[in-house]
Amino acid sequence: MALITKKIKGTEDVLPRQSYRWQFIEGVMREEAKAYGFKEIRTPVFEHTELFARGVGQTTDVVQKEMYTFDTKGGESVTLRPEGTAGAARAVLEHNLENEGLPIKASYFVSCYRYEKPQAGRLREFHQFGLEEYGTQSPVADAELICAAQSILDRLGLDKVRLEINSIGCPECRAKYNQALRDYFGGYRGQLCTTCLSRLEKNPMRLLDCKSPEDKAIAKDAPKITDYLCEECEAHFAEVQKYLGCAGVEYTVNPTIVRGLDYYTKTVFEFVTDCIGAQGTVCGGGRYDGLMEELGGKHTPSLGFAMGLERLLMVMDAQGIEIPDTSSCALYIATMGDEAKAKAFELLKRVRECGLTAETDVVGRGLRAQMKYADKIGARYSMVLGDNEIAENKAKVKNMESGEQTELALDESFAEKFSVLQLASDKAFGI
Ligand code: HAM
Repeated sequence: MALITKKIKGTEDVLPRQSYRWQFIEGVMREEAKAYGFKEIRTPVFEHTELFARGVGQTTDVVQKEMYTFDTKGGESVTLRPEGTAGAARAVLEHNLENEGLPIKASYFVSCYRYEKPQAGRLREFHQFGLEEYGTQSPVADAELICAAQSILDRLGLDKVRLEINSIGCPECRAKYNQALRDYFGGYRGQLCTTCLSRLEKNPMRLLDCKSPEDKAIAKDAPKITDYLCEECEAHFAEVQKYLGCAGVEYTVNPTIVRGLDYYTKTVFEFVTDCIGAQGTVCGGGRYDGLMEELGGKHTPSLGFAMGLERLLMVMDAQGIEIPDTSSCALYIATMGDEAKAKAFELLKRVRECGLTAETDVVGRGLRAQMKYADKIGARYSMVLGDNEIAENKAKVKNMESGEQTELALDESFAEKFSVLQLASDKAFGI
């Protein structure tokens, strides 16, 4: 039978030898989410199609072109989530979380699905980490959220990632702006792509993030939202900037950022880098004061962001940032004979109880092959157990990097003494 070895286009596998990299960045994100008071929410990978149509917006590329939508056997239309915000908002409403006190602060890790043209940094299945906060209209919350994203990027050691912010106003300023856009783009009707032509009346702001090069060129000189902000939105934006200043977060105001999803109001922001090619946005977010109402809930001003894990890893690679592999084997015990095997089994259990990774032979290799394997898996220490060691009840553990050997008794104290030894060498290697 032919092997089935081809994954679906635009998807990626994370192999056992690579997963420590994911776990490292996820660990940083979990810690920062906790530091800022966010608790994890987990929602289903698929939702009613209607949720994304209404939440993300009918005229967005995501909804018009990119969703994985199918009918279930029961005849319901469901969609694999293209992003995490709509599902989290649905869950907050469904479980009446507003009764538990505002603001509600939720973090998540989600796999997302968008039928986009795959290229470097653009996948059909990708992964996001996000923070969402519901029930605050204070600009302090906007600044705090941006600080949380910045802290994560700083802790990952990323360099040359710039923060760009903008305000896209509230429905009132947006109405005036939309008219200005209709007037402007109306003069280019003959040159716009068909999708943009259909968006011109319904949602002209979507013309600003069209991917067609011709439309992009026209959009360059389009009116800027910042010239149409009402007094309140302008004041809100100024406060956000004031608090970012207080926290020493550097940013530039980029009036062309409109984001590709319809729910945004007021503050929007992106963290962008030039070091991974065209798909350089590693994090995007903003305020979405109208979304909860759009989904049938009460007016609940909210905000959030999501960062793409694959893109972050690409930046770390491009910038040569080393990720410590704490998952590699701390001790490999090679054995000769049945008695040694049994002793190794007993010692390893204790070493593992100390929280260390420890392994022995389980495929029946000879001593040389066992040592070769220990080398291959990058064991930091190895130990050979044979009849002599068993008889003397002591053995030498060898530091595989320096060759240094330390004799340890094979008794109750073994695991603890080994633990102290390897901790000191881990520190020396910066693990
Ligand atoms: P987004 O800008 O569509 O926003 O996606 C957020 C991040 O996900 C992007 O900055 C990028 O790093 C990553 N990303 C998006 N599409 C792809 C793709 N095809 N392949 C690889 N990575 C990708 C949202 O999804 C909003 N839900 C963010 C948000 C949360 N706004 C408020 N709360």
